[in-house]
Amino acid sequence: MRGRRDPEDGARTERGYNLFAVKFRLRSYTPQDFEIIHEVDQRCFEKEIAYSRAEMRAYLKLPGAECVIAESGPGKIAGFCLAAHEKGVGYLVTMDVLEKYRRQGVGGALLEEMEKRLAARGAQEMWLETATDNEPAIAFWNKHGYRKQGTRKNYYPNGRDAYTMRKKIADSG
Ligand SMILES: CC(C)(COP(=O)(O)OP(=O)(O)OC[C@H]1O[C@@H](n2cnc3c(N)ncnc32)[C@H](O)[C@@H]1OP(=O)(O)O)[C@@H](O)C(=O)NCCC(=O)NCCS
Repeated sequence: MRGRRDPEDGARTERGYNLFAVKFRLRSYTPQDFEIIHEVDQRCFEKEIAYSRAEMRAYLKLPGAECVIAESGPGKIAGFCLAAHEKGVGYLVTMDVLEKYRRQGVGGALLEEMEKRLAARGAQEMWLETATDNEPAIAFWNKHGYRKQGTRKNYYPNGRDAYTMRKKIADSG
């Protein structure tokens, strides 16, 4: 394992965060984060696609729900990732990084942490949907080993299609 270096030297830490660009730490969601993650989601997605408070509450209560926060300072969130799992199958509900923190490894760190947590709790694969015209997200998922499995027509409330993507995160049995 590579050791942690001086955060100011721009080097990569053992988890690969480029601390020269943005400093953040990963932690678990607490109920106090609810309003801020809802706000982050509103800012990351178009109005028709962003989750309402009721939807967000329901997703946080899914079986095996896990929510990881990337905290960029006291009371400040750079992004978050929400997923759930049941019977060995993980489902990535959303991955949100605020625009000013993008392309600095925040999303990758959140995803790595989420996969690690779900694998430790028995998930062997991850599934997600992403809009067919969301090129940054498709590039992101591809980079992290997610592969297209099919297309869901009219998946989003605004009529856009989604790709279903999957990644194996652990060996079965
Ligand atoms: C998709 C998203 C989560 C990526 O977060 P991020 O913190 O920028 O991701 P990282 O910096 O860890 O990873 C970046 C990698 O993803 C890919 N990527 C991310 N944004 C990209 C873009 N605009 N164009 C091309 N590739 C992109 C690249 O492979 C990139 O690696 P590189 O910077 O070394 O080239 C972020 O753009 C986001 O929150 N978007 C809005 C919400 C959304 O669409 N979520 C995903 C659908 S659920």
